[in-house]
Amino acid sequence: MESHTEWWRTGVVYQVYVRSFADSNGDGQGDINGLRSRLGHLEALGVDAIWLNPWYKSPLADGGYDVADYREIEPVYGTLSDAEALIAECHDRGIRVIADLVPNHTSSQHVWFQEAITSPPGAPSRDRYVIRPGRGDGSEPPNNWIAMFGGPAWTRLDDGEWYLHLFDPSQPDLNWDNEEVRAEFDDVIRFWMDRGIDGLRIDVAHGMVKHPELPDVDPLPLPWSLQGTPEPVDHPFWGRAGIHDINRRWRAILDSYDDRMMVAEAWVHPQQLPLYLRADEYHQSFNFDLIETPWDAAEFRSVIAEACEAAAAIGASSTWVLSNHDVVRHPTRYGLPAGTDTRGWLLDGPHDALDADAGHRRARAAALITLSLPGSTYVYQGEELGLPEVWDLPLDVLDDPTWEKSQHTVKGRDGCRVPIPWTADGPSHGFSHEASWLPQPEWFGALSVDAQRDDPDSMLSLYRQAIAARNHLLADDQALAMLDFGPGVLAYERADITVVVNMGARAVPMPPGEVVLSSATEMLGDELPPDTSVWLA
Ligand code: NOJ
Repeated sequence: MESHTEWWRTGVVYQVYVRSFADSNGDGQGDINGLRSRLGHLEALGVDAIWLNPWYKSPLADGGYDVADYREIEPVYGTLSDAEALIAECHDRGIRVIADLVPNHTSSQHVWFQEAITSPPGAPSRDRYVIRPGRGDGSEPPNNWIAMFGGPAWTRLDDGEWYLHLFDPSQPDLNWDNEEVRAEFDDVIRFWMDRGIDGLRIDVAHGMVKHPELPDVDPLPLPWSLQGTPEPVDHPFWGRAGIHDINRRWRAILDSYDDRMMVAEAWVHPQQLPLYLRADEYHQSFNFDLIETPWDAAEFRSVIAEACEAAAAIGASSTWVLSNHDVVRHPTRYGLPAGTDTRGWLLDGPHDALDADAGHRRARAAALITLSLPGSTYVYQGEELGLPEVWDLPLDVLDDPTWEKSQHTVKGRDGCRVPIPWTADGPSHGFSHEASWLPQPEWFGALSVDAQRDDPDSMLSLYRQAIAARNHLLADDQALAMLDFGPGVLAYERADITVVVNMGARAVPMPPGEVVLSSATEMLGDELPPDTSVWLA
């Protein structure tokens, strides 16, 4: 591939949830060859890179974030040679490939864990995980930590000791104080770099290092993140200082290859994040702020301004994310009344509070925001089709461990993982020639790639046009200046383009300039309607 140093700083990265993208063999689950057959869609969209959710051998208890073998492809997804063919074909089309690396935990099916639990306490093979005697007479877990999917973060082994799992019991945490664990991941990284992978997305990049004494934790408001506290806190398992040594070790490996990058999924306090982005650590980190920002001009403005300032201060590039495989899709979020707890709403409703049209309009307007900002923009598969959350999946098909572990109080993340509709009709709308692993609603056909491809007013056309215009008009100048067009209006200038978004309830006068791109489907006159973005030259 043509070398273009620091390609990640401005790229559009398309997130592929492999299991739900395209199925080539009729088992109802997406696979690598399915993805290969649909690369034309990604090339036409104009993306610079794809990030693949984990594709390694896995029992798929947490969608593949439970890895049984880091050097093998999950057979449901294909083979190592399919993966190599995919990498080569992506490169031929000018698309880079980012793989997902899961270092905090393995699957309980990983040979190391099987060895650990069949060895006696004190055996070296047990030291690769965090295994401890219980408290009191041994029947109480070693501390009060709660797993992210609910329930205690410890499970008792048959021999009476307990193992730590910050996520599902099938995802035992590795012991990163063990040199063998560190060496193994160095080797895994080299394995994939040698196969031409261009970058790594590091899962739970703030979680590997635990406090040596494993003390109790004061419950935080949000167990997922350290972002909600006014000041950074000293936490026994999130964001510990020892992580930076690991980051540096990996960065040194990547730097021994050309043009490779790593991006952190690090839910840390904003004051700690720059530490992850030092010159010898990560190239970039996801900024999830927009996922948590309501449809409000003042809030968008402050999130964007702060992220741009923070990135500029340390010479990093910003990243923009509206949706991913862990959150309620944004057309649905934007269609709900302000203040709705979207995760809770999935199960509890009220479902008639959803204004799907408003959500769709706002998602169109939001695309022209994230695709016009400096830095790189991550697009989650289906976002370019305007797919909303499928909030009404039948309960008996739910697969996310959250549903069971929360004792059926939190529905989980399946509604954003429903397979992509490629065709208006046919079994699973062209995703597979059989039924898909999660059922698609009937109305998915109207949002299919086929239905949208030649419609100039479709979401797909909007994404294509915006990505093309971004590359053409906005690539060279990464500076952004906020403009004040009054309350309810978000406005900024980039290169020779002015971006104006009416996020208020009433139309505002159209600012001067030639409309290069608009999120509206009708011709605009001298007013900019609510929930509408324009790029003006
Ligand atoms: C973050 C991933 O995005 C999520 O899907 C997964 O469940 C957890 N990490 C655990 O690996």
